[in-house]
Amino acid sequence: MAASLTGSLMSGLLAAPPAATAAGPVVGPVVGPVVGDPDQQVSSRTGPRPSTGHDLPLVIAHRGASGYRPEHTLAAYRLAIRMGADYVEPDLVSTKDGVLVARHENEISGTTDVASHPEFADRRTTKTIDGQQVTGWFTEDFTLAELKTLRARERLPDVRPDNTRYDGRFGVPTLHEVLELVEQESRRRGQVVGVYPETKHPTYFDSIGLSLEEPLVETLRRHGLNRPNAQVFVQSFETGNLRELDRRLRVPIVQLIAISGAPYDLVASGDDRTYDDLVTPAGLREISTYADAIGPDKNRVVPLDADGFMTDPTSLVDDAHRAGLQVHPYTFRDENQFLPADCRRGSDPNAKGDAFCEYDAFFDAGVDGVFSDYADTAVEAREFWQARQQRARPQRAGASPHPVR
Ligand code: G3P
Ligand code: CA
Repeated sequence: MAASLTGSLMSGLLAAPPAATAAGPVVGPVVGPVVGDPDQQVSSRTGPRPSTGHDLPLVIAHRGASGYRPEHTLAAYRLAIRMGADYVEPDLVSTKDGVLVARHENEISGTTDVASHPEFADRRTTKTIDGQQVTGWFTEDFTLAELKTLRARERLPDVRPDNTRYDGRFGVPTLHEVLELVEQESRRRGQVVGVYPETKHPTYFDSIGLSLEEPLVETLRRHGLNRPNAQVFVQSFETGNLRELDRRLRVPIVQLIAISGAPYDLVASGDDRTYDDLVTPAGLREISTYADAIGPDKNRVVPLDADGFMTDPTSLVDDAHRAGLQVHPYTFRDENQFLPADCRRGSDPNAKGDAFCEYDAFFDAGVDGVFSDYADTAVEAREFWQARQQRARPQRAGASPHPVR
């Protein structure tokens, strides 16, 4: 079986809930056995799409605790887990020798000190990635050993100057190292922490002979995570690789939906469907043939008006739920510049605003999870929201905070 949330996967998820506040203690091993040979399994996607067993939205730590540490470092993931995140999100790219490492992009001049390494000066180059010209240094031009000589840096030093004190302290982790950390931290917390990997630019990596899917499947398998009750979601902005992964994985699949444009694999194959087409009811039904959730840009759920204020939610959450898909929008951040105008405080774009106000709107809209740079804020916002729901419950007999679907 691949990534369906039906049947045994659903039972598995219910049997081993992740560390949401609604979840209980670990009820099974953090790393369980691989059941059968998943590569021989075939996707079966029929019947209703059940929930993950949560009645509260998941908190997904976007690139780790990116609000506090340079993103995609073990320190960022560890802090996010200790803040109570249910899942940590590594974006994945490949090294020259085919090892998956956690970086938001394969171009690494903004997130590492590669530019200050004279021995790598001649690796600076210009490439076309997904139709865009990009200049810099690229992970696929470095062996893992070479990449390990680099140090991570804060990607947004002007927005998050406090984080620059951590520049140079952490390296670039492999997926294997991230999974090891998650296992250690799950044992420490006494609850299973989930992992939510994203394959970046899969068509591009295929084109240079460094396909991402095989090492992803193999690394998950080695860690005992290609099984129905593993706390894993696998995501991508492309579609073809998700269909492939659905056949090879037994964990849920997430179709990411950008605010505009089209999945690059469709562009590359001459298919003119766009992300707008994917979120029509018919498009969502098609997604549900290979995926279990969508990860939309948050403005597709609660759009902003011309002045940046939140408007009424779109029908996307309801439409997705009708198609049996969960909805995990991205990306929630505390700073004013990333918040709706309703929630900003003061005029400094880098100061923190009232992020709780934004989370409230999305939790009210019925989302099933949120990607956040600030796991602590998201967890607390969920607590505030849950308390408000519980206070309101007596007036709405029979209503539950967030009905299990
Ligand atoms: O993957 C969901 C979220 O991370 C959006 O994508 O990687 O561009 O931040 P990304
Ligand atoms: Ca991502």
